[in-house]
Amino acid sequence: MKRFGKNTTAEQVSQGIDLAGKHALVTGGNTGLGKETVRVLALRGAQVTMACRDQQKAEHARQDILRSLDGRVEDKQLTHLELDLNSLAAVRESADVFNSRQQPLHLLINNAGIMIPMERRTEDGFEAHFGINHLAHFLFTNLIIDSLITAREARVVMVSSSAMGMATLTSELEDLNWEGRRFSGFRSYGDSKLMNLMFARELNRRFKGSGVVSSALHPGVIATELARDQSLPFMLLGVFMMPFMKTVDQGAATTLFVATSPDYAKRGGLYFSHCKEKRPDHKLALDDVACHALWQRSCKLTGLEVNSNH
Ligand SMILES: NC(=O)c1ccc[n+]([C@@H]2O[C@H](COP(=O)([O-])OP(=O)(O)OC[C@H]3O[C@@H](n4cnc5c(N)ncnc54)[C@H](OP(=O)(O)O)[C@@H]3O)[C@@H](O)[C@H]2O)c1
Repeated sequence: MKRFGKNTTAEQVSQGIDLAGKHALVTGGNTGLGKETVRVLALRGAQVTMACRDQQKAEHARQDILRSLDGRVEDKQLTHLELDLNSLAAVRESADVFNSRQQPLHLLINNAGIMIPMERRTEDGFEAHFGINHLAHFLFTNLIIDSLITAREARVVMVSSSAMGMATLTSELEDLNWEGRRFSGFRSYGDSKLMNLMFARELNRRFKGSGVVSSALHPGVIATELARDQSLPFMLLGVFMMPFMKTVDQGAATTLFVATSPDYAKRGGLYFSHCKEKRPDHKLALDDVACHALWQRSCKLTGLEVNSNH
């Protein structure tokens, strides 16, 4: 097994991997880690769907990637799909559009996310981190699962965060929607990132034998647009932290590693950081009863049939 670490870039980690004939979908592929993930997946030969809420931004990013790769990628390798994770109805519409294309999907990279200090609700009334980072990705993945199964060997990669260490989630899954306690942006973000990992683990367990594996990762700390709504003191702290942060191409490396390493084509339910397997930063991430309960609850909240795998 090749050894990679903190400073490895997405290009280095995927060197020599041939993704020709593979189809990948990256949520939030228009900026930050998602955009770099799209760029390197395309560079390795994959056909990539950029699932983004703003089609103008998506097209701008697509053109930018094509320009930067200077003829090494064909125009038709990159397409976009409208996906607004702020609304479950919009997620259903996007899944319908995607499913109508009847394309096997080999790599689903659930990368989009928000990290905001204030309490905000999605169109369906869910706390925004819970609704966008977890529930919408949960629903979208379940609605397009057949395209992953059809691919025969497919991976779902959840871009989580070590911020799960700040999670307040309990094994009883109390107050998931932040209705009965004082709001904390960091803790609700941590909760949603813990749920990303719990979802990956339970998905992996449920679809054992189907050819679909699922894992989660922490990308590192990277100066992207993620902190765009944070306070001035937080931004200033970020400036001070800059020398210790990863660059965007290093930040996307663990995603590329989990998505493309031949060592994880058939193994999932794992968590990674700095391109290595790691013990999760929260004990609930290894609690199969809690992961199962979260799946059931998420089915109810998103209107999916409880107990079904679809
Ligand atoms: N950067 C870090 O240090 C760090 C650390 C740990 C984990 N992460 C995780 O890495 C992932 C990528 O973040 P990033 O750092 O690349 O941040 P970013 O630059 O802010 O990118 C976030 C992406 O998510 C999209 N998004 C946000 N809300 C959406 C919605 N309602 N519907 C559809 N797309 C939506 C954004 O689209 P718009 O451009 O249209 O807003 C953007 O494409 C996130 O899941 C984050 O939690 C990042």
